[in-house]
Amino acid sequence: MWEYTDKVKEHFMSPRNVGTIDDANGIGDVGSLSCGDALRLFLKIENDIIVDAKFQTFGCASAIASSSALTEMIIGKPVTEAEKITNKDIAAYLGGLPKEKIHCSVMGEEALEAAIKSYRGEPVTAHEEHGEVVCHCFGITKEQIEKAVKEHNIENAEDVSYYIKAGGGCGNCLDRIDEIITDVRQENTKKPLIPIKAMTNLERIRKIEEVISSEIRPKLELEGGGIELIDVQGTRVKVGLFGRCTNCPSSQVTIKETVEKTLREKVDADITVEGE
Ligand code: FES
Repeated sequence: MWEYTDKVKEHFMSPRNVGTIDDANGIGDVGSLSCGDALRLFLKIENDIIVDAKFQTFGCASAIASSSALTEMIIGKPVTEAEKITNKDIAAYLGGLPKEKIHCSVMGEEALEAAIKSYRGEPVTAHEEHGEVVCHCFGITKEQIEKAVKEHNIENAEDVSYYIKAGGGCGNCLDRIDEIITDVRQENTKKPLIPIKAMTNLERIRKIEEVISSEIRPKLELEGGGIELIDVQGTRVKVGLFGRCTNCPSSQVTIKETVEKTLREKVDADITVEGE
C-alpha cells in the first residue's frame, strides 16, 4: 500500500477548484479515459495573470491531489512564472508522492503546458505527432521517454512507468524502453568528463553542491526525504540524510550508494560518501 502525505490526503478529501470555467481562455487536456487517467485544466487569464483555474479529472487520489495543488499554485501568478512549474514542484508542494504515482504530477505539468499554449494560440500537438510511438497502451513517444530519462536520471523501465506510465500496461513495449534508456545513458557518458585534475577544491565543493541541489535533493524530496551537505575533505563527502530516510537504516545505505554514484558520475570518479 502506498504511503500518502497528510497534504495529499487533505487535497484528495477536499480538492480545491474542481469544476469548469465558462469563459476560460486557456484549456489543457492530457491523458485519456482509455488510459485510466485524464485531466482537463481551465485557466482564466487577465493581463497575463492567472486569475482563476479549475480542473476536472478522472484518476486516482494522487491525480486529484496533484490537480488540486496545481490550481492553488498557479492562481494569482503571472503566466511567465506559472509556466516554470514542473511536476517536481507539484510533488514537493504535496510533501512528496509515492514513486509509483509521480506520473500524476507529470500529468499536471503537461496540462498546464497545454493550457498556456492554448491561451497563447500556439498549436497543442498530440505527442503522437512527434515521432515514434513506443507505448501504444498510453500513447507515449520515444521523445517523451528520452525526456523523462534525462530529467529524472531514470535507470530502468519500471521507473519510466512510474514517471510517465509507459510500459505500465500490457508490457509489450518494455524491451524498446530498455533500449531507449541504454541509448540515452550512453549518450550522456559520451559527454566530456569534467577535467578532475584542473578542478580546485573550491570548484569541487561548488560542483557537489550544485549536483545535490539540482539532481539529488529533488529526487529525495519526492519520496519524503532530504539531504544536506555537511563537509567535503578532498574527495570525501559527508552528508546528512533526513526525513523518511532516517527511520530506515537499510534505505539509508541504498540512498548513500545512490548519492555516491551520482556524485561520481557528475563530479569526480573518486568520491566517497559518508552518510549520517
Ligand atoms: S504498449 Fe506499453 S504497456 Fe502496452
